[in-house]
Amino acid sequence: MCGIIGIVGINPVTPRLVEGLRRLEYRGYDSSGVATLINGHIDRRRAEGKLTNLEARLGLEPLAGTTGIAHTRWATHGGVSERNAHPIATDRVAVVHNGIIENHRELKAELVAEGRRFDSDTDTEAVAQLLTSFLERQMSPEEAMAATMARLKGAFALVCLFAGRHDLLIGARRNCPLAVGYGEGEMYLGSDALALAPLTRRIAYLEEDDWVVLRHDEARVFNAGKPVTREIKTTALSGAMIGKGNHRHFMLKEMHEHPEAVSATLRSYLDPAARAVSPPSLPFDWKDVPRLTITACGTAYYAAQIGKYWFERLARLPVETDIGSEFRYREAPMPAGGVCMAVSQSGETADTLAALRYARSQGQTILSIVNVKESAMARESDVIVPTHAGPEISVASTKAFTAQLVVLLTLAISAGRARGTLSAAREAELVDALIELPSRLAEVLGSHEAIVAIANKVAEARDVLYLGRGTSYPIALEGALKLKELSYIHAEGYPAGELKHGPIALIAEDVPVVFVAPTDELADKIASAFEQVHARGGKPILFSDAAGIARLGSKAFASLCLPDVDPMVAPILYAVPVQMLAYYAALAKGTDIDQPRNLAKSVVVE
Ligand code: F6R
Repeated sequence: MCGIIGIVGINPVTPRLVEGLRRLEYRGYDSSGVATLINGHIDRRRAEGKLTNLEARLGLEPLAGTTGIAHTRWATHGGVSERNAHPIATDRVAVVHNGIIENHRELKAELVAEGRRFDSDTDTEAVAQLLTSFLERQMSPEEAMAATMARLKGAFALVCLFAGRHDLLIGARRNCPLAVGYGEGEMYLGSDALALAPLTRRIAYLEEDDWVVLRHDEARVFNAGKPVTREIKTTALSGAMIGKGNHRHFMLKEMHEHPEAVSATLRSYLDPAARAVSPPSLPFDWKDVPRLTITACGTAYYAAQIGKYWFERLARLPVETDIGSEFRYREAPMPAGGVCMAVSQSGETADTLAALRYARSQGQTILSIVNVKESAMARESDVIVPTHAGPEISVASTKAFTAQLVVLLTLAISAGRARGTLSAAREAELVDALIELPSRLAEVLGSHEAIVAIANKVAEARDVLYLGRGTSYPIALEGALKLKELSYIHAEGYPAGELKHGPIALIAEDVPVVFVAPTDELADKIASAFEQVHARGGKPILFSDAAGIARLGSKAFASLCLPDVDPMVAPILYAVPVQMLAYYAALAKGTDIDQPRNLAKSVVVE
């Protein structure tokens, strides 16, 4: 979603605000802007399009000032234009906002009736005008903020700059993240610790409905009218961790981090010497769980679907999966003693968070698998089992996905052990297979030339099909999603058994069909689908191991040989080539890989 940053500073802030926006650009990139105080007056520069446009603007019209706020936008209300770019300002206040003010129409009607003139089409302007209205009634900025918060419905992280008050910023949050950074004689506010990493490592995360009064040397936090204390933590993030290194894109860098993301996550949940998993301590016993519900969105949802196969197979535990946006409104009955897992890289995705809250209202124990430990989902869960993938900046999720799969598989193994459905011998085999994974992943990353050759062919297609069975089916979905979002080529993922029930009509010589086909117990079934495509003049592309390539490779339009692994861990390995295929197809098409059109990371609105 949108990224926000603010500094109550002693030195000129604009270069640092823009640098902060660069680190937040993954949250939205359709327009951006900065506001500071010049001789007590609010001045701002805004630009439509990427941050480079704002930088160019600032090059021509520099902006001085030692206290300021900045924003990078993913439009929700009001089209993409300079007048809708934040900061949204009146002569009294400038506001940057992430989220949606749900009652903005009602507020606007009231404020217009008072004689106020709105200059933008954004929901955020209702906040700026409301604050102004209170300030004009002689309220202090603090009083105006408290009065404004009481009127707002919806989701927001806000940072407000007040005319004449170079010693002050006020921030507030509800359902959107906001962090306070502590410096030396300077204080900061930002959407996340990543934005603040080069400025400070001392961070406090605001909680629901907190608002904070920030001065040069202090942050006073309030909730429900009372002062509250929020713990200051030292983040392990550094500015260096969030660069692209020698890679052309964050996505490429992050795919190269698959082995490290997997091994860091494994280190937390495996005991290699005992050839056993070492599960986190949980507030329930798997033996007593009648049903597991797993909810997530997008790529994380595909991890959930693979998790379902694992829990059902290894622990004989009934599992339901649903995407957050459906689950939150389905009013699904949930059994007493049930467990609900939320899977999310950011831990902030609004639909997954709402699904988690629904499950809580149904008396479920909530376990979340998140990559950001300070996120809303983490805070609202009974237990978190974090992935250790490190910061993920590219909009398309990559290494967080393989790390999520590692957590799900180790949990499924421990559930199998607890429920007596998995033998110690099979557990030891699976642990061995997991320990080998980082090296196998590195081998796959090393086959990039073969993947580039296939991607160059795929890049010429208008439509692409991805087929898989069992745990390879969600990998087919992941391949199709990544290809769509990065290269804008239309792609569909299907369970291969469904081919004959409809999609086979699409088979034609210009439609590549990617088969995600490790040699597992369904290998014969996927081989039949492959033959059906081949027999109809289609273009099958085969991702398989040596046995699969020996069997079908001669009939393939192109093939990629992957290392042999235990079929149970195969989806973790096969995730990588489908992501790489999408990356290199997008590269061939020249699209904006780290910032695909219309997208943003951390979708904190519905
Ligand atoms: C696709 C992608 C998205 C996210 C989804 C959920 O490449 O990245 O589909 O997986 O928006 O995000 P998180 O995991 O942060 O809840």
